[in-house]
Amino acid sequence: MAGQFDKVYQRALDDPQGFWTEAASAIDWSKPFDAVLDDTNSPFNKWFPGAECNTCYNAVDRHVEAGRGDQNAIIYDSPITGKQRKITYLELQDKVAQFAGVLRGLGVEKGDRVIIYMPMVPQTAVAMLACARLGAVHSVVFGGFAPNELATRVTDAKPKAIVAASCGIEPGRIIEYMPIVDEALSISSHEVPNVVVLQREECLADLKSGRDHDWKALMDAAEPADCVPVAATDPLYILYTSGTTGQPKGVVRDNGGHMVALKWSMKNIYNTDPGEVYWAASDVGWVVGHSYIVYAPLLHGCTSILFEGKPVGTPDAGVFWRIIAEHKVSTLFTAPTAFRAIKREDPDGKLLEQYDMSSLRTLFLAGERTDPDTLSWAEEKLKVPVIDHWWQTETGWPIASNCMGIEVLPVKPGSPTRAVPGYDVQVLDTAGHEVPRGEMGAICVKLPMPPSCLPTLWNADDRFIESYMADFSGYYETGDAGYMDEDGYIFVMARTDDIINVAGHRLSTGAMEEVLADHRDVAECAVIGVDDALKGQLPLGFLVLNAGVNTAGDEIVRDVVGMVRERIGPVAAFKSAVVVDRLPKTRSGKILRGTMASIADGKEYRQPATIDDPAILPEIEEALQTIGYAKK
Ligand code: COA
Ligand code: AMP
Repeated sequence: MAGQFDKVYQRALDDPQGFWTEAASAIDWSKPFDAVLDDTNSPFNKWFPGAECNTCYNAVDRHVEAGRGDQNAIIYDSPITGKQRKITYLELQDKVAQFAGVLRGLGVEKGDRVIIYMPMVPQTAVAMLACARLGAVHSVVFGGFAPNELATRVTDAKPKAIVAASCGIEPGRIIEYMPIVDEALSISSHEVPNVVVLQREECLADLKSGRDHDWKALMDAAEPADCVPVAATDPLYILYTSGTTGQPKGVVRDNGGHMVALKWSMKNIYNTDPGEVYWAASDVGWVVGHSYIVYAPLLHGCTSILFEGKPVGTPDAGVFWRIIAEHKVSTLFTAPTAFRAIKREDPDGKLLEQYDMSSLRTLFLAGERTDPDTLSWAEEKLKVPVIDHWWQTETGWPIASNCMGIEVLPVKPGSPTRAVPGYDVQVLDTAGHEVPRGEMGAICVKLPMPPSCLPTLWNADDRFIESYMADFSGYYETGDAGYMDEDGYIFVMARTDDIINVAGHRLSTGAMEEVLADHRDVAECAVIGVDDALKGQLPLGFLVLNAGVNTAGDEIVRDVVGMVRERIGPVAAFKSAVVVDRLPKTRSGKILRGTMASIADGKEYRQPATIDDPAILPEIEEALQTIGYAKK
């Protein structure tokens, strides 16, 4: 007999119209939709065409109207500054309306883009929601990126305004944001007339007269703005993510489909009810932060925790437990790397004993595969279900998960469980045929994708097709490889492209190679991801130098490490490279990155049949051993 999950999954497959119409009834629309899905121009599918709505209204105002005004919407807990602040739905509504007025006063209207370059402070959520209120399109840029990355996004998104803070705070150092904004604007070909600056007391920025405006002064003077109805298919935000080159992909999110999927996920996947406290310990600069710090918990009427700190060192590995106990968190969502960091500092979970963890029902992990060790440690210490779930910036919500609000399925370590209702996941061979269960292949989603998944890339319809739709006709290619077992459980094992995953952050080795190749002494280079016990993976560079270079290899390595930090940012965590005489390649000239990664990780590897010169492999192994890799 089919279980409850099977029934719901099958219904979403057989009757997507009925399924999503029902889910859409949990959203307030100012004009109803004409159809659930318009797939006449597939893969540029449109969910809920004809409808009008406002995401900010659904996330904030309607809860106030329904009597939730006094409930906390956001709890800002910042162990790094020692500050805490609670913001009710009513206060949030006031602030968002006021800041929407600020943006309008600067000429921002429906469809205009606004770049938000802010750390983990409540004003970041206020700025995002204020854009949504006006129908403006926000693009949040993560604070760990360098000016060049900010400039790329400014050039592509062409914002009318930037909202920035004076600084971000990392353990042991303050990062001044305005010099980064200044440099980015000097590199970018797009001119931004207005920058709103939130002055944080930890570091006050000098404001450039004419361009820069003080957040507080503008807030004091602004007229509040009401919600502007937008088409369900209009963009809510652009979030840039790593592609295979230095040019990031601008993933577009719509308003209607996004709200429907996120609202549905809160009960059905996360089993969280309105009024409960939900905590995604991530950063608003990533998709997890967009979806599960800001939009989903607020759409569902929950209290969302906004945490400015690290899992360890702010002040210790007990900070997660303190926050859970103090704010009565029912659902925690973070990356496995955060748990590996905690486990390394407090392997016996001694700090846990100091806190009342009875409010916590479930831990969700994503961003990278949850390794079975971390899974069993977390299960044993927290004594709640630990759910690995798999998703991407492109989808905005999980593709595979144990749907805790529908039916709790048995956990299989190493698997994010089964495809979520709405996703028809299939594992395909290179010819586009489904492989037998248990065999590896490209993990793809049969079109149409469910609501919330990217309708296209910003200003890049061709790239959208080429990146995701070209290789498997009728499918979206996730870029992940893996297999599905007899029970339909998905195992995500590797990427099929040059993306690596460092501490849950998605990075392109291709982008790092572009930086290395710019060094005057480097003739050829490669960057691979190597295993790391804490961060999952770390980037490692290989440099072949120009003939006749006399500079010491160490010096060149130091230079390229500095260049990646300067051009991509500290978040790339690029700290090691090695000079080699040549790179192993196939006879057609393709660099054997996979083989190099196996050698570096000390794994058994097979010499590829297509290798040009097998003698290079022992040379690579020897070079890697000099920097502590390739240990057997
Ligand atoms: N602004 C500026 N710099 C930042 C930054 C930000 N918002 N976030 C990170 N950085 C810097 C860090 O200070 C560090 O710099 P350093 O090289 O000078 O030390 C560098 O970028 C790498 O950061 P990170 O990868 O975060 O490593 P870490 O050693 O500081 O911390 C963990 C390791 C595991 C504690 C940390 O990665 C973590 O908390 N991860 C949680 C994962 C997560 O939130 N994932 C999001 C997807 S769910
Ligand atoms: P991002 O777009 O930054 O969310 O990164 C998405 C990528 O991270 C996916 O394509 C996977 O490669 C990886 N990823 C995220 N969650 C998981 C998971 N639970 N298991 C395996 N890989 C994951």
